[in-house]
Amino acid sequence: MSATYPTLRMRRMRRDSFTRAMMRETSISPANLIWPVFVIEGENRTQAIDSMPGVERMSIDLLVEQAREAASLGVFGIALFPMVESEKTPYAEEAYNANGLIPRAVKAIKANAPELMVITDVALDPYTSHGQDGLIDDSGYILNDETVAVLIQQALAHAASGVDFVAPSDMMDGRIGAIREALDEAGFFQTKILAYSAKFASHFYGPFRDAVGSATFLGKSSKDTYQIDFGNSDEAMRECALDIEEGADMLMVKPGLPYLDILARVKNEFKMPVAVYQVSGEFAMLKAASANGWLDYKKCLMETLIAFRRAGASAILTYGAMDAARWMNGK
Ligand code: PBG
Repeated sequence: MSATYPTLRMRRMRRDSFTRAMMRETSISPANLIWPVFVIEGENRTQAIDSMPGVERMSIDLLVEQAREAASLGVFGIALFPMVESEKTPYAEEAYNANGLIPRAVKAIKANAPELMVITDVALDPYTSHGQDGLIDDSGYILNDETVAVLIQQALAHAASGVDFVAPSDMMDGRIGAIREALDEAGFFQTKILAYSAKFASHFYGPFRDAVGSATFLGKSSKDTYQIDFGNSDEAMRECALDIEEGADMLMVKPGLPYLDILARVKNEFKMPVAVYQVSGEFAMLKAASANGWLDYKKCLMETLIAFRRAGASAILTYGAMDAARWMNGK
């Protein structure tokens, strides 16, 4: 006999905080968090980003201090994105400069906070004069194989600097396999690949493009010919399956909250570690609403993080990582 109302009352177990706590199915800790940061040249320099309140670009020396703090708060990893102020070029030569901003930042962080996992983005958009993630032909079409050849050089430069994970975010075909092969050939078989596998052509990346300074160069062009159409779910599954076959160690779904169905589906289907990226536009929405007093930033951010964990994320990239880690540490 199965009990039903009024014998069964679901609210009985919700009345007290001890039973509510006992029944909570999902947990989150700083070890689930990856903090994306924007790096600039110079010393003791910071720059505010208008569309991302509370987020600042930092020079490497300041970044190292922040990395040490992140590690002391138990944050799992840090993901580096460059704001390149030197000249951007059609062929993105700076992307694979072994002594460029990103390789130097990796070395500095690894030397001072070795316990922190460091992730670097593999894509050309911070370096190209046209703001696309790859090289383009005369018509503006993004060339696949020519781009992959440059991404390999970029990944090798990052691996040589001692990065833990390279994270190709460019969505070119075949880049995971090609990068894996090149890394192995060069002896970097321990360098892991976090594949932005289910990366959608989203409109929530706007503030990020301001932060890395690609927005003005990109202008009105879109990334629709390489990122996934946001109406599609099966296609995202195929991208994940291919990246697994090509040797990805971990997958990513991006953006986050509007794509929880994709995250849950990827986790259920592939049973491997999945990261989710709460992107700049999602963060900007939370910040804007809370600045108006319409939402509580702390409570809503934590709710989104739990939602990602509930849907199956092992790791969450969020611009709120340091805030959340401080709260979780009782600070
Ligand atoms: C590009 C890249 C983007 C983000 C991470 N890597 C933007 C894009 O594809 O245009 C977005 C992150 C965010 O919005 O927070 N290689």
